[in-house]
Amino acid sequence: MQVLGIDFGGSGIKGALVDTETGELVTERIRIPTPQPANPDLVIPVMKQLAQEFSYNGPIGVGMPSRVLDGIVTSAANIDDAWINYPGQEAIAQATGCPVTLLNDADVAAIAEIHFGAGRGEKGIVMVFTLGTGIGSSMFVHGHLVPNLELGHLYLRGQKLDAEYYASDRIRQEKEMSWKKWGRRLNVYFQHIEFLFSPQLIIIGGGVSKKHAKFLPYLDLRARVTPAVLRNEAGIVGAAVAAITEEN
Ligand code: BGC
Repeated sequence: MQVLGIDFGGSGIKGALVDTETGELVTERIRIPTPQPANPDLVIPVMKQLAQEFSYNGPIGVGMPSRVLDGIVTSAANIDDAWINYPGQEAIAQATGCPVTLLNDADVAAIAEIHFGAGRGEKGIVMVFTLGTGIGSSMFVHGHLVPNLELGHLYLRGQKLDAEYYASDRIRQEKEMSWKKWGRRLNVYFQHIEFLFSPQLIIIGGGVSKKHAKFLPYLDLRARVTPAVLRNEAGIVGAAVAAITEEN
């Protein structure tokens, strides 16, 4: 089946048709810059435009950087606050005329990795983290997704400061940190995660995961740690798969 997956991120809204059997993109990826402010009134028309560009009329999966409960968006860490308590799933469905499944971006990336990537065939507790503007987090327990984890907002070392302001890739770039310094920060973060959840496998995604050789050596964990396989495409692929598999 060919399904439209949409990845709504802070800087771009990306979409492509995905073969949900193989996890491969069957069209080019279209990227439209995220309008500012990134509120529903400006963002939803972009999703409609994407569906039109693909002349698409079928189930659509969308991932966005928020908690999403029963189609209602309940947080907005790096996008406009107008999304909070907004019925995003229904509004996108109305605008596009298609059935929509709206989920958290890290959850859809994890769905993609479990189906087609580094988590394939893995049992037990598998956690997926996306390191980017924020820190996205997701967990599969014996093949079942625990949705809407928000572990980028954990406090570390007794400080009232979200972990993503300490260890996200954005912070690495803004503070021009060496890989060693950032790697050590990630180690603090992941050791705490390991203490709390005891995962067997930690998959690290986000754009920076392609540079994994530079920071993975600083992680001293019991869990196996591996870079994501799908990288850039995980959001689109996972959203498309979620559109036909997840119950909402
Ligand atoms: C948001 C999460 C999101 C993550 C990655 C965090 O700031 O709270 O919902 O998954 O960023 O985009």
